[in-house]
Amino acid sequence: MKHQHFFAGCLAIAATALGIGSTGAQDTIKVGLVMPMTGTVGAAGQEVAAAIKLYMAQHGDTVAGKKIEILLRDDGSVPDNGKRLAQELIVNDHVAILGAGTTPSAMSMAPIATEAKVSTVVMISGTSVVTERSPYYVRTCFTLGQQSGIIADWAIEDGSRKAVSVLSDWAPGAEAGKVFEQHFTAGGGQLLETLKVPLANPDFAPFLQRARDLKPDTLFVFVPAGQAGPFAKQFAERGLDKSGIKLVGPGDIVDDNDLNGTGDSLVGVVTAGFYSAAHPSQLNKDYVAAYAKATGGKRANFISVGGYDGMHLIYEALKKTGGSADAHKLLAAMKGMSWESPRGPVSIDPATRDIVQNVYIRKVEKKDGEPWAVEFAAFEAVKDPLHPAAK
Ligand code: PHB
Repeated sequence: MKHQHFFAGCLAIAATALGIGSTGAQDTIKVGLVMPMTGTVGAAGQEVAAAIKLYMAQHGDTVAGKKIEILLRDDGSVPDNGKRLAQELIVNDHVAILGAGTTPSAMSMAPIATEAKVSTVVMISGTSVVTERSPYYVRTCFTLGQQSGIIADWAIEDGSRKAVSVLSDWAPGAEAGKVFEQHFTAGGGQLLETLKVPLANPDFAPFLQRARDLKPDTLFVFVPAGQAGPFAKQFAERGLDKSGIKLVGPGDIVDDNDLNGTGDSLVGVVTAGFYSAAHPSQLNKDYVAAYAKATGGKRANFISVGGYDGMHLIYEALKKTGGSADAHKLLAAMKGMSWESPRGPVSIDPATRDIVQNVYIRKVEKKDGEPWAVEFAAFEAVKDPLHPAAK
């Protein structure tokens, strides 16, 4: 009897040490998300958080025998907060994996992720250089370059020759403008002027007036998630929707989260984007329906899929490592991984750790009284054109 107790006791200690049969630390993998839940791009963090919650509701909170615990931190859209929050998540909360949001915050977190050797999934930032800032970074969202060259080529083919760029004045805007200009001028077009709009509380009216005065045939616009609605309103108020000037841009300007509130003002606008809630696959129809149900009727948008696929990448990589969150093992599992996303087929480029995805040309059309970005052409497996290693 005594012996039996002794052995049972030893087994219990060993099991705890191995993390078996208890809910100890070894059984839990903490994922620390540093997202803009408030501030200038607060809408984006909320969309990522909603999509991650949905993914976990659909797939469970346990993967490869490990319980996944999300620790969500709001960086308030302030870059330096990203660094501090990442540090706290690693040192105090012992997170094993990080999720990064917008460009400035992801940039500030990069040295922390590198130093602590924590694999980090970038879920919002669309600036090329971000994944080069840390060898532990993997991106599941997009780059502006991926979309902006394709829309420039399309505009040239559609007869555009004189363009004005209106860009939100921060890193992703600069990249969108740069790649658009490269392609547009290479195609024989002329960029008349680049107008930079402040990121915070933008008043588009004076920039739109200036753009109109320059008499372009085409307006290339980048505004970030959360600003498509206010932009569309001022665009229509200035009469630009009826001016004959063609509006083009990356997918951000027809953000599904805002599109439904824009009435007729963006109907006919053509963009190059990687995600539309109107993408006709069954997987996407199911995603849009589930996202709407989970969020009180919101339309899934391009930001949300970066979070949804980010969580998918983490789950699938953990399955491959048998539940190990060791950064080198996780990164090896993530590199080259491919899957079917609500946006279409995607993969992680093993050379750059960046997402490779289809970019669609879409036109805003009304269906059942609501505007949607309807895809009519696809460029397959597009890499980030600015990354030096993406060939
Ligand atoms: C970014 O952080 O790079 C970013 C955020 C929102 C966008 C596009 C890019 O819509």
